[in-house]
Amino acid sequence: MHLPFLFLLLLVTLSYTSLIAIASSSPSVLNQGSSLFVEKEDHLVSPNGIFTAGFHRVGQNAFCFAIWFSEAMSDGNHTVVWMANRDEPVNGKRSKFSLWKDGNLVLKDASRRIWSSDTKSSLPLQLQLLDSGNLVLIHLNKKLYLWQSFNSPTDTILPNQLFTKDTVLISSKSSTNLSSGFYKFYFDNDNVIRLLYNSDEVTSVFWPLPYLQIWEVGRTTYNNTRSAMLTSEGRFWSADNLVFITSDYNSTIQRRLTLDVDGNIRVYSLSRGNWIVSWQAISQPCAIHGICGPNSLCTYSPALGRRCTCMHGYKAKNHSDLSFGCAPTFDINSNQENYEFVKLPHVEFYGFDNQYIESSTLKQCKKACLNDSNCKAIQFNFHKDSGHFRCYVKTLLFNGNYLGTPFDTYLKLPKTEIKSFNQHVPNQSRLDCPNSVIELRRTYEKKSTNGSLKFMLWFSIILGVVEVTSFMFFFYIAQKPSGATNQNYLAIATGFRRFSYEEIVKASHKFRDEIGRGGGGIVYKGILPDNRVVAIKLLHEAIQGEAEFLAEMSTIGRINHKNLIETYGYCAEGKHRILVYEYMENGSLAGKIGSNQLDWLKRFEIAVGVAKGLAYLHEECLEWVLHCDVKPHNVLLDADFNPKVADFGLSKLFHQDATNNSNFSKIRGTRGYMAPEWVFNLPITSKVDVYSYGMVVLEMITGRSSTCDQSNDDNERVDQKRLVSWVREKVHKARDRESCTESQFLEILDPAIVRAEIEEEQMKNLLNVALQCVEEDRDARPTMSEVVKMLLNHETDD
Ligand SMILES: *[C@@H]1O[C@H](CO)[C@@H](O)[C@H](O)[C@H]1NC(C)=O
Ligand SMILES: *[C@@H]1O[C@H](CO)[C@@H](O)[C@H](O)[C@H]1NC(C)=O
Ligand SMILES: *[C@@H]1O[C@H](CO)[C@@H](O)[C@H](O)[C@H]1NC(C)=O
Ligand SMILES: *[C@@H]1O[C@H](CO)[C@@H](O)[C@H](O)[C@H]1NC(C)=O
Ligand SMILES: *[C@@H]1O[C@H](CO)[C@@H](O)[C@H](O)[C@H]1NC(C)=O
Ligand SMILES: *[C@@H]1O[C@H](CO)[C@@H](O)[C@H](O)[C@H]1NC(C)=O
Ligand SMILES: *[C@@H]1O[C@H](CO)[C@@H](O)[C@H](O)[C@H]1NC(C)=O
Repeated sequence: MHLPFLFLLLLVTLSYTSLIAIASSSPSVLNQGSSLFVEKEDHLVSPNGIFTAGFHRVGQNAFCFAIWFSEAMSDGNHTVVWMANRDEPVNGKRSKFSLWKDGNLVLKDASRRIWSSDTKSSLPLQLQLLDSGNLVLIHLNKKLYLWQSFNSPTDTILPNQLFTKDTVLISSKSSTNLSSGFYKFYFDNDNVIRLLYNSDEVTSVFWPLPYLQIWEVGRTTYNNTRSAMLTSEGRFWSADNLVFITSDYNSTIQRRLTLDVDGNIRVYSLSRGNWIVSWQAISQPCAIHGICGPNSLCTYSPALGRRCTCMHGYKAKNHSDLSFGCAPTFDINSNQENYEFVKLPHVEFYGFDNQYIESSTLKQCKKACLNDSNCKAIQFNFHKDSGHFRCYVKTLLFNGNYLGTPFDTYLKLPKTEIKSFNQHVPNQSRLDCPNSVIELRRTYEKKSTNGSLKFMLWFSIILGVVEVTSFMFFFYIAQKPSGATNQNYLAIATGFRRFSYEEIVKASHKFRDEIGRGGGGIVYKGILPDNRVVAIKLLHEAIQGEAEFLAEMSTIGRINHKNLIETYGYCAEGKHRILVYEYMENGSLAGKIGSNQLDWLKRFEIAVGVAKGLAYLHEECLEWVLHCDVKPHNVLLDADFNPKVADFGLSKLFHQDATNNSNFSKIRGTRGYMAPEWVFNLPITSKVDVYSYGMVVLEMITGRSSTCDQSNDDNERVDQKRLVSWVREKVHKARDRESCTESQFLEILDPAIVRAEIEEEQMKNLLNVALQCVEEDRDARPTMSEVVKMLLNHETDD
């Protein structure tokens, strides 16, 4: 009985060892004197199986020695994280990657050496592919790395890979050509990490935004460590203070940070065979330089993607590839007297300023351009800090974009071209900008719910922390006990700024006077040390993430319109999230509808004002555009009953958690004012605000509320619909009998309105506009700026 048993044991042991031998047939190490051959498809696999190193096919009969994620993507492709010879692929025959006995790592094709690590050692060495994705040449005795792939990244860094002053990321040429492209991510001489477009003709830094000071974007030049790293949990830090967390922070999954072909830097997370973007540096594709050639303008829309359009008077150099730019159709050498200018609002061309004139007038600026035959355009804008207009004379129109920057460009054109330009104006103004932002958010929301917010947000941090940081910067240098400093920075930072919690407590008299509730927080009245009366809103603690909050604040801080509430500042300390904005004497519209304080004219003017405010949000190319919660409670009235829309820009903060919920559409907005899109889960566009606006106007006209206190959504829709159809019916009837009695219209009116005051034409117009706004079909609704036009045109007709 013993013998067969022993035999069996031997058999098992044998097969077990052979199993091990099979498993280790993809080794993770390469010994001295051995090679990996391209024909044999030799490769190394990291012990955890996640990474593979070997020959990667980059073209027909073209291979690069590379490291990639072993797991194939859902399209069957592998994600390459490192390449030894990206710019010089080797042949598919007789190429090999060897660790020579003298310690050198060498990649050779049939005839010559293509790449080598230039290492040398007499000690025993081994090439190992580590679990981290690092390919290392290791001293077996000393456990020292003689060489490692982490020190020479291509376009990607992996978690825990140190990015230093000696490393750069260079984008690939295209998604199919992995050789070195035009974009570079690197530590600059001033210790700041930057993105650069670097082609043969042009080099320009575009991130952080070049026209902002480094401290304005929250970076610092003082730390010369020049190192950065992404952790496996999804936190990135850099010595220049660029710190962010990914949208899926805290989960340890596969990640990579890649400088993409399009010039944007993104963090990706691996999820079921797909890479999901969990952070990106730039949310507006046109903010990346080098996309369009000279004399052309970059525009972006989700439907058409990124596009280049020639400026008026210019035509494409190569119609099949607009990145070649555009050439003038007119004679550039004609007499300067023949030239004039056309204004291109919010259009910016970055760089190539031949001349810069501080405190200029537009006339002087144009003159300077006309005096310079190389001048193609001028950029003329008000500089807030200096209080002057600045004039930039441009000799080359490059990096053209339409991002809602506060800049205006005046294009120099021959008078003959100017005539035809005017006809183009309507088409010009219909650039894709405003909606693109909305759609962008939606697409990202689908991909990774929480992430979407951060992409948008991060860009806005970078872009907009101007006011915020200007205060903070000052605060840092003058960090003495309050008192004296308070005085100082109030004098300096008259605009938007950050408040300390202590200041808030003091200003609000320990939160003594509550003046309102809802919209995500409680509102108190307060008085600032400079005697400004303010409203102080304590946001619910659910709003987390200082970064997102700051980003929102920086956006809000840049918004300035007489029909939008002015935000003076904010406080983000510990878990406190507080907004400080102007105090409105007459409270909200909600409290005034149905009272006799609002006569007809005031109501009409409120309707126009609110429309103007919303039109500004939607159309002026700001970064975020949707209010998502237009209702009478968010329309505040000053002492003269001028309306100001409040609570814009907050929907993202409040509904961050909600976006995780598949049902989130119902959570946005307020019952009674919600567009049908929310309920039916249709794409959300600026037309949701138009709908809500229509409901508010109907409520103002009729004095009837579309809300009821029942918490049942279905009842709600019914109620809202009932108001709309009731008004529609009345209007129809009135129209039918128009010849006999126009006063039918008056039945619709809020009884609180004195009939004698009413201008019937004005009222009919407002009613018509409101009814158009509450069309179920969002395409049938006008845009907010059309609403403004319809309301005002009618006025001037009268
Ligand atoms: C791999 O990527 C290339 C380039 O993006 C693409 O053309 C191809 O369809 C992808 N899929 C496979 C299976 O190769
Ligand atoms: C990639 O682009 C480079 C530079 O433009 C070019 O020389 C090379 O042939 C391209 N490679 C492939 C595989 O298309
Ligand atoms: C510089 O940055 C590094 C990395 O973030 C940090 O460890 C170090 O303390 C910083 N040095 C100074 C002087 O702030
Ligand atoms: C991450 O996880 C740790 C431990 O689970 C927890 O203490 C921490 O609060 C988490 N951080 C975030 C930002 O979720
Ligand atoms: C236009 O660009 C395409 C693609 O780069 C190129 O193949 C073509 O030759 C160019 N045409 C002209 C007229 O330059
Ligand atoms: C016009 O240009 C000339 C030299 O190019 C310069 O001397 C002159 O001051 C300029 N005139 C104005 C009004 O800028
Ligand atoms: C402007 O747009 C309209 C409608 O899209 C189009 O018919 C017209 O040709 C355009 N005009 C110019 C000058 O491009």
